[in-house]
Amino acid sequence: MAEHPISIGSGEIEQVLRDTELLPVLERALANFSSEGGGGGVEQPVRSTVPVAKYNGFLGVMPAYSAEDDALVTKIVRFYQTTSSSASSHHATVLLFDPRNGILKAVMDGRVITERRTALVSAIATKYLKRQNLDVLCILGAGPQAVSHYEIFTQMFPFKQVKVWSRTRERVEKFVKTVKGPVQMCTSAKEAVLGADVVITVTMATEPVLFGEWVKPGAHVNAVGACRPEWRELDDGLMKSAVLYVDSREAAMRESGDVILSGAEIFAELGEVVKGTKPALCERTTVFKSLGMAIEDAVAAKLVYDRWEVKNKQKS
Ligand SMILES: NC(=O)c1ccc[n+]([C@@H]2O[C@H](COP(=O)([O-])OP(=O)(O)OC[C@H]3O[C@@H](n4cnc5c(N)ncnc54)[C@H](OP(=O)(O)O)[C@@H]3O)[C@@H](O)[C@H]2O)c1
Repeated sequence: MAEHPISIGSGEIEQVLRDTELLPVLERALANFSSEGGGGGVEQPVRSTVPVAKYNGFLGVMPAYSAEDDALVTKIVRFYQTTSSSASSHHATVLLFDPRNGILKAVMDGRVITERRTALVSAIATKYLKRQNLDVLCILGAGPQAVSHYEIFTQMFPFKQVKVWSRTRERVEKFVKTVKGPVQMCTSAKEAVLGADVVITVTMATEPVLFGEWVKPGAHVNAVGACRPEWRELDDGLMKSAVLYVDSREAAMRESGDVILSGAEIFAELGEVVKGTKPALCERTTVFKSLGMAIEDAVAAKLVYDRWEVKNKQKS
């Protein structure tokens, strides 16, 4: 074992992290997290967030341990409300520890891990909660999360059309250049949402951008932004009429403005659906409120480390 932590950058992570490998690992982690009485061997407190009000920023600390994966990790995330479409609003660093003695083994750039694990968890929710026909995908927001969701959703599901909206044309045009696949650029959120079978909200909005009256009955919504108790992406109409799934009940009640301010009732955690202890009510309109969990980062970082180690042993 190295005496000093190794450093793994985003380029190396892109080379070793495979969506097809990460997907089942995340699905298992969600089920373990939602096992009754902590039987799944997951330890994960709700994220601690420090506002940096002077600069419109936040610093979040996300520790977790998975006994099954033997993964002990803390992610440190920084997110800033910015008006520039060229500056990154999110930065993340993942620290991987040796669970046997607490020694720091690796410092990893958190960008790729966060982008892939978030989109894959939305895809897992969609796999369980979608209705049979998936023709139209709508993405509200056009930042890095919109890109990773586009890539994973168009690989995993047979959508015939993808509609994208963001507040500025500039941002959507940048998105279209990045993803290279077919996209219909929409001039309003409503235009993008009408007729969609799956809607993904990946914005930094603090007021609703998605309204229930636009959503096709029986559609599935992945609500990925609005991670502060006073921030919204979805209106009360949608929150109260849809069947509401969350990643973590405890986090949703503490961090999600959409859940707290609408007073909507949580039906189940996604991990309970994966385990089969709660049903997937696919015929109804469903919302998966994702806040992002440290356990997702923990199992993803462990996978990155294991694959990186194999690759480097082969080299030497
Ligand atoms: N649940 C999870 O696990 C998880 C993980 C990571 C990130 N997230 C969240 O996912 C969201 C997207 O992340 P990202 O990295 O792609 O962010 P980003 O680069 O900041 O993307 C922001 C997008 O939101 C739009 N936007 C910014 N402010 C807005 C406002 N006030 N109203 C409406 N739209 C607004 C931007 O549009 P314009 O530039 O065109 O104005 C852009 O399309 C963020 O809320 C982030 O916190 C969630």
